[in-house]
Amino acid sequence: MSATLDAPAGHPTSAGHPTSAGGASSLPPGPRLPRAVQAMARVWRFAEFSDRGHARYGDSFTVRVGTSAPAVLTRDREVIKRLYTGDPLGKRHGNDLLSTFLGMQSVLMLEPPEHLVRRKMLLPPFHGERVQSYARLMQRLTAAELDRLRAGEVVKVQPIAQTLTLDVILQAVLGISDVGMRKRLRGIFDALNTPLNSFAMFVPQLAHRAPWNVISRRAWRLKDELNAVLFEHIAATRADPLLGEREDILAMMVSARDEHGEGLTDEQVRDELTTLIAAGHETTATATAWGIELLVHNPAVMATAREGDDAYLEALVKEILRIRSPLPISSARHMLEPFSIGRWTIPRDVAVLVDAYGVHHDPRTYPDPHAFRPERFLEEQPDGYSFVPFGGGAHRCLGASLALLEMKVVLREMLARVELERTSDTLARAVPGGPTLAPRGGTRVKVLARRGAARTGTTETASAVETADATPA
Ligand code: HEM
Repeated sequence: MSATLDAPAGHPTSAGHPTSAGGASSLPPGPRLPRAVQAMARVWRFAEFSDRGHARYGDSFTVRVGTSAPAVLTRDREVIKRLYTGDPLGKRHGNDLLSTFLGMQSVLMLEPPEHLVRRKMLLPPFHGERVQSYARLMQRLTAAELDRLRAGEVVKVQPIAQTLTLDVILQAVLGISDVGMRKRLRGIFDALNTPLNSFAMFVPQLAHRAPWNVISRRAWRLKDELNAVLFEHIAATRADPLLGEREDILAMMVSARDEHGEGLTDEQVRDELTTLIAAGHETTATATAWGIELLVHNPAVMATAREGDDAYLEALVKEILRIRSPLPISSARHMLEPFSIGRWTIPRDVAVLVDAYGVHHDPRTYPDPHAFRPERFLEEQPDGYSFVPFGGGAHRCLGASLALLEMKVVLREMLARVELERTSDTLARAVPGGPTLAPRGGTRVKVLARRGAARTGTTETASAVETADATPA
């Protein structure tokens, strides 16, 4: 694989587009390897792709992947700051790949000004006390899952974490109290969560819905089932006589009106629910699985975490997200105006991608970047452009606080209730598991013994990572 990134360094390449200022636009150099090879390297060897690319070409370099237009991958803090601040109209999000599954009416897909209106509508359940109020439910669900484990058995953490994170979203965020409906939704998402179905939904060429396309047939059938369940739930919510007293996000969405008195359509609400479930559960489950993977391979950190206070737990969660971000590219922005990066002028329509892996492994910000050392987050808090697992700016992850809390609760319960041991001598490789990069094999651990219950409740602490959120209050 090393050959993939060892091609000779290129010179600034003229992309041939005139800029609006009249000057020629240009892209930074990058690997000159066949697009298919770069595509494979980006998916299957992202860490090496990023490390070697930055070592050879600098903080920003151009990638050419598959049939897509060239894009610029950056770990440059100043560039990231300009991407996340300033006029959101100057850049489009780059989430189009997700539209097949999430739908065009999702907050991830919208552009200003609709995006801001929708985001403000969705924000309340993800902030402050409301997020805090989910801790007890998370704790209860985690304890129930862990109570099923028996000493001596070998278990896979990823599916357990997936069940938990899905249940938290369905119950806490979406307010789905009906057990049967939760079971149906869990079944659909479990079935969708195979590599084939993920590719069939997220690779546009494969996603095309046509009778001859056998690759995406099953994924589309599951998407139809999902739509049916969600429409049923939306109709029941609209008809609920107690709607005005409910606090869940769905009740808020169906009650919301814009300045013309218009509410959201069923399709808009459906796309939003799909987005919250899809964006929130696999990411958090993958991060949790990485957490256990890293802990069982670092027994000293595990011992400190077991004895440590809430501040250490918070630092631990951030270190997990730093060293193994579930989404190693955390933001994609398509330029609507020419955009300067050093001596290059990135032309319109080219995407600039935030390389979260690269940012988090830059030794200038994180000395000894491959060492798993939660203490670094106790010593210093990085700003919102140096710690980017949740992206930033106008599209920063809405569920960041929820995810941090959930990881803390789940890890604290696991540390308190079970003794775990690794089943492999080496840390798992990161492999694609849907849109995330997950530990290969799903983190298999041996349950050595059961312990008592966790000590205290977890409190969410506001942190420096919040500074990258550009949503006006
Ligand atoms: C460890 C877990 C998670 C990670 C690593 C993560 C990461 C991300 C990233 C990188 C983005 C794109 C940000 C950008 O474009 O700059 C995003 C967006 C988003 N995430 Fe998360 N996420 C996580 C958990 C959650 C949860 C629990 C929810 C909700 C239940 C959620 C809901 C969303 C939504 C709605 C967006 C779109 C925001 C917008 O476009 O305005 N995420 N997330």
